[in-house]
Amino acid sequence: MSSASNPPPTARLEGKVAIITGGASGIGEAATRLFVRHGAAVVVADVQDELGRQVVASMGSWRERVRYRRCDVREEEQVAETVRYAVREFGRLDVMVSNAGTIEPYASILDLDMAALERAMATNVRGVAATIKHAARAMVAQGVRGSIICTGSVAGCLGGSGPHEYTASKHAVVGLVRSACSELGRRGIRVNCISPFGVATPLACAVYGQEPREVEQACGEAANLKGLVLRADHVAEAALFLASDESAYVSGLNLTVDGGVSVVAHLCRSPT
Ligand SMILES: NC(=O)c1ccc[n+]([C@@H]2O[C@H](COP(=O)([O-])OP(=O)(O)OC[C@H]3O[C@@H](n4cnc5c(N)ncnc54)[C@H](O)[C@@H]3O)[C@@H](O)[C@H]2O)c1
Repeated sequence: MSSASNPPPTARLEGKVAIITGGASGIGEAATRLFVRHGAAVVVADVQDELGRQVVASMGSWRERVRYRRCDVREEEQVAETVRYAVREFGRLDVMVSNAGTIEPYASILDLDMAALERAMATNVRGVAATIKHAARAMVAQGVRGSIICTGSVAGCLGGSGPHEYTASKHAVVGLVRSACSELGRRGIRVNCISPFGVATPLACAVYGQEPREVEQACGEAANLKGLVLRADHVAEAALFLASDESAYVSGLNLTVDGGVSVVAHLCRSPT
């Protein structure tokens, strides 16, 4: 059995180079750690410089395969530069995990703050679009059969599971993924989405003003799948699958990591 500090028996990303936006915290940090354990070189792209550098510094003997790069995904030129940096440092780009996201507290649609809508769109949609664009350019230029993975949300599948502007932005992520998939397939590039249910990351704790255990309790009560708390590591495992050759023919998928919550309504009582 392998621990978090040992390589797993089979390194599923050996030789691959990945950029993970939002890689300094939460789901992105978990993906960074898992990808590096599986042999990948990773550029952590984030706006939290100190946290990003701490993640790199904590990599021990794998430190040489990880870099931190400040990248505000709302700024297209920073995204383009981060992609160039990854290619300069590690020679190629195989995987883009477009995971950076933002959320603000819920407000009634009757009081919808248009500036909040624009902020959600700037990071969650324009930022994701810029990462798809520049990652795909680098992959096309090098003839790399790459994998682009965008973080959506249950709020991208359903109304009523997040603030309005966040819900709209995450639905748009699914649309972008499908649209990019339709063009990039002919280049051998796969584009997929991961849509998690609630995870007690700093983002979720901040928006609800709760401690991690309170977020986990609230999510547990709303969950369809009981008896297991969704953690960032579970979501990272889905990203590992989509980044690896094990998903070689999977493209255009919205892989929900939600215990089924987005496909059930519990309108009638089950017999057991
Ligand atoms: N935590 C949840 O319950 C949950 C559920 C569904 C989807 N998601 C999505 O998962 C993704 C990761 O969030 P998380 O829960 O790990 O939260 P997190 O706060 O732990 O991590 C988000 C990271 O994104 C970075 N970021 C934010 N804006 C950025 C920008 N403009 N440019 C670059 N980096 C930026 C932050 O600095 C942070 O490090 C987000 O897209 C979020 O919408 C989270």
